[in-house]
Amino acid sequence: MSSNKTLEQQIIAAKRDLRGRIPDLDARFAEETERLRIEVAAVQSEMRSGHAIVDLDFADIQAGTISDETRQRIRRRGVVVVRNVFDATRVAGWNETLMRYATDNDYLTKQAEKAGLDNYFGGLASGKPQIYGLYWSRPQMEARQSEELADVRSWLNHLWHQPTEGAPEFDPDRECMYADRIRQREPGDASLGLSPHIDGGSVERWLDPSFHQVYRDVLFGEPAAFDPFNAQFRTGTKEIPSPAVCQMFRTYQGWTALTRQGPGDGTLNVVPIARSAPWLILRALLDDVAEDDLCRAKPGRALGLFKEFHDLLMQAYVPIPEVNPGDTVWWHPDVVHGVENEHRGSGYSNVMYIGAAPDCDKNRRFLELLRPAFEAGKSSPDFAPEDYEVDFKNRFELRDLTPLGRKQLGYN
Ligand SMILES: [Fe+2]
Repeated sequence: MSSNKTLEQQIIAAKRDLRGRIPDLDARFAEETERLRIEVAAVQSEMRSGHAIVDLDFADIQAGTISDETRQRIRRRGVVVVRNVFDATRVAGWNETLMRYATDNDYLTKQAEKAGLDNYFGGLASGKPQIYGLYWSRPQMEARQSEELADVRSWLNHLWHQPTEGAPEFDPDRECMYADRIRQREPGDASLGLSPHIDGGSVERWLDPSFHQVYRDVLFGEPAAFDPFNAQFRTGTKEIPSPAVCQMFRTYQGWTALTRQGPGDGTLNVVPIARSAPWLILRALLDDVAEDDLCRAKPGRALGLFKEFHDLLMQAYVPIPEVNPGDTVWWHPDVVHGVENEHRGSGYSNVMYIGAAPDCDKNRRFLELLRPAFEAGKSSPDFAPEDYEVDFKNRFELRDLTPLGRKQLGYN
């Protein structure tokens, strides 16, 4: 196919260009590998003595009692569990309402009819998990526009560093709503999971100069100066448009647990190392990778990890700690993550995907697309246009928005 050839040519050209411009690629990669080895060993040791993932209580965020040391740990690990954001009774109600919303509207029959529209994870070893293309249920919208999540997001957004000169990259205290889906996974489900990957761009991390800006210290400058929480240039990246590739800038991906779930329950696994992308990017430029290949990165797909290239990073791939209904999990957009293949637990493993997308030009542009989708009950414009909910009963509607919800959607 000629389009494939074009991509191969683009990859060859981009790799030649980068290899020509990066001063001493081999030494940079060796240095980055050494850094990563230290982090992998630290994660392994933290897992032996407790857990590598930072664990906080929402009440401590509200009380302003989180230490600087803990903030630093979040910046290093790139993953944090914030517990007790919503009370268990409210979340149990949400879980029931969501399951009923899907059943009453005959979601599974409709999904079977439309299967195949979304190929985002098609290149990874495991197929599609139990993800429902539902965006506008009451529980999802009530959580998105909640004061509780607004507080958590604002606190987490302030962990990012704004440019020392010029305008801030985003407003940490104002959210632009993003409509993502839900995961509802039955106990015993053994066939479906998600292999380790990062979102937010695959081949464009090498092909597009906007990504070179983000990783400029690693590629061309002083690697020690690279800071994954430096916001500068992050909202200017240009992703290749594709169903299921996020068009927004997210400071964190995340979800709210609707049920108890822990290791073995078909839940999230992560590599809790915020500084992973520099190593991944340099890795694809080494001599043992074919000149038209970027460690099997495919446009419009998640950027997958593969043992033959990324074994070191995968040695720090760990399950999240057990979480309960109303707990939330947040991870930096460069953090490697996936979903366990097997659900060996005894209950449903359900989550609502809700991350953080602070106000900036890029995210405002997305709201222009999101508002009409919301009003019509169509799929979020970032995903395959399955539009299941157009005729759904009990959908969340315009009149149900709080003033904060209206603001997050850009109505005023
Ligand atoms: Fe993902």
